[in-house]
Amino acid sequence: MTDVTRRDVLRVGMAGAAALALPRRLLAQSATLPEPPLLALDRSEPGLAVGSLVAEWTRTAVGDTTAWLRTYNGSFPGPTIRVREGERVRLSLTNRTADATNLHTHGLHVDPTIDDPFLSIAPGDTWVYEFDVPSGAAGTHWYHPHVHGSVARQLFEGLAGALIVEGPLDSTTRLRRIEEHVLVLKDLSLRNGAASPHTMVDWMNGKEGDLLLVNGVADGQLVPRRGTLRLRLLNASNARYYHLALEGHPLHLIATDGHFLGQPVELDALLLAPGERADVVVQLAGRGSFHLLDLGYDRGSGHMMGGGHMMGNRPGSAADAPHPLLTIVAPARRRTVPLPSRLTTVDVVDTTRVAQRRRFVLGEAMMGMAFSINGRTFDHERVDVRARLGDVEIWEIVNGTGMDHPMHLHTYPFQVLSRNGTGESRTAWKDVVNVEAQSRVELAVPIADFGGKTVYHCHIVEHEDLGMMGVLEVA
Ligand code: C2O
Ligand code: CU
Ligand code: CU
Repeated sequence: MTDVTRRDVLRVGMAGAAALALPRRLLAQSATLPEPPLLALDRSEPGLAVGSLVAEWTRTAVGDTTAWLRTYNGSFPGPTIRVREGERVRLSLTNRTADATNLHTHGLHVDPTIDDPFLSIAPGDTWVYEFDVPSGAAGTHWYHPHVHGSVARQLFEGLAGALIVEGPLDSTTRLRRIEEHVLVLKDLSLRNGAASPHTMVDWMNGKEGDLLLVNGVADGQLVPRRGTLRLRLLNASNARYYHLALEGHPLHLIATDGHFLGQPVELDALLLAPGERADVVVQLAGRGSFHLLDLGYDRGSGHMMGGGHMMGNRPGSAADAPHPLLTIVAPARRRTVPLPSRLTTVDVVDTTRVAQRRRFVLGEAMMGMAFSINGRTFDHERVDVRARLGDVEIWEIVNGTGMDHPMHLHTYPFQVLSRNGTGESRTAWKDVVNVEAQSRVELAVPIADFGGKTVYHCHIVEHEDLGMMGVLEVA
């Protein structure tokens, strides 16, 4: 996530003007923005929430057509799982597709022997995941498949949903009076009634779809009843970045990757890389409708041939931006809820006693058809990093490629210390950090609890499938 610059402010102004000139076609088909259904949970045993997911192909309405998509429980995006801190969750996943799958609870602090990316659920099989939701886990997380080599297809074809943990902070008076919405940003493109296949260029750059869907709908209308909204934004796209701005309104960032900030931060625009989440509060001012816009973002090109862009296909080009993602219709009678001035205490990781410094160099190989970390592509039998439980480590990630890579670490949330040597201004917990092309970041990684094997990888999931992933073993 990037802070606002003067340039962003100017761009939002321009974006507002540009949005008015949008082709009618885009504005005419506004449908009411649906909210993903809630996953039914059986709570008859105290302290335990039991639910089930079925991965299956479903004929799904997309705009004015239908398409066969992979879904959880028939829903695209998948149902929202809403649980509480301190609860135990028992979640079964039945695989009714023809491909091995599994479930990763991205962002939720779960023992990696349970949230196991190496597990594979064969077609026809059911697996039961059982884990505790730790205290302090309140926030916007998500779930998706994690079988190496087929994540990109399964995610693009629909398998993803929000996983929300409620905690004590959510029920304080101020936050309770704010109307909450889950917004799953997930692009898609269709061909012959199904998600379009990956091309060579898609594998290199990460696949983006031409349909920019929020909760499965293009430019839907959100008609809130209250004047102050909490938007739980989740980028569940394979590779698309969203540079978000709301016409005429600042965004008050209250949480990043499912962790509250110390206090709200006012932004004019916010960059959300694949896998990232952001909770923002919006205080609607004035009457009318306001677009939530994608301002466009240049995330760099993939492998270059002869110094040019491969097949002229530059991903994330700003050419067709700004693009409306949804329209918020302000209610006529509204009362704005004041923002809480303080949210929580975010302790800065103590880096005076660092046990280990590590360096991860991101690279491309095989003409952009393989992606590596420290010169090696993923091997599930190899342990790349061995860390000790209780240690604080500093990870430096160096991106020498021409493309941004959003790097994600399972199990252990981290804090960004610096980007290109410049100290990060905000203390925040994250689990995805965008490492811009030709740049480096430094992270403080406390290996606080849970042993076992887990992974870190690029969340452009094509890159993950093509090898940009490593194994971390903690003992
Ligand atoms: Cu969102 Cu390794 O995952
Ligand atoms: Cu994850
Ligand atoms: Cu990448």
